[in-house]
Amino acid sequence: MRDLEPGETLVMATHNAGKLREIEMLVAPYGMSVVSAGTLGLPEPDETGSTFEENAALKARAAALASGLPALADDSGLAVDALDGDPGVYSARWAGPDKDFAAAMGAIETKLQALGATQPAQRKAHFVAVLALAFPEGDCDLFRGEVHGALVYPPRGANGFGYDPMFVPEGGERTFGEMSANEKHAMSHRARAFAGFAKARLPK
Ligand code: IMP
Repeated sequence: MRDLEPGETLVMATHNAGKLREIEMLVAPYGMSVVSAGTLGLPEPDETGSTFEENAALKARAAALASGLPALADDSGLAVDALDGDPGVYSARWAGPDKDFAAAMGAIETKLQALGATQPAQRKAHFVAVLALAFPEGDCDLFRGEVHGALVYPPRGANGFGYDPMFVPEGGERTFGEMSANEKHAMSHRARAFAGFAKARLPK
């Protein structure tokens, strides 16, 4: 396993616009040249794994092999304690083919109400992000980050993406949907996974 070099091109193996925007912001200070899987016209592999780690690795490996370049993939999701960790690795799928996150947040709320989970302590949840760095030669490295908090309903705020408007991080009052990108990056699961990746593999 080698480090990435300054100016080297890194493929962002994601077709999710929200994730892409965040990872590009996080990589920006390191002087890497970044290209997205979408720009290269790479296909989106099926996420057949049952863990964030498996899915991150399969996306990064597919992009590295198809492009001949090192590739960084993110697999992430929201795990709700009272729902035994659902939607978890299926967080994108709960929004359906139309990517309707208002409906996905509504579905979580319906389940929480059915369980009588009205108090913050009964509505605990955490975001997980696993970043996988894969090289065309086959090496693959994984980095995990989490942020814990509680869910509110109705959703609040128009920033971020996915389940952000429903999630209030521990110790805070505003949802990720109400925070600026920099405020979210100061504590998010993705920024924490990225910090591990940057320390291990990015040029110092
Ligand atoms: P996947 O990693 O492509 O399977 O999709 C992960 C899904 O989890 C996204 O489509 C979002 O719905 C959700 N998710 C992951 N990270 C975040 C985040 O930072 N904010 C809100 N939702 C997220």
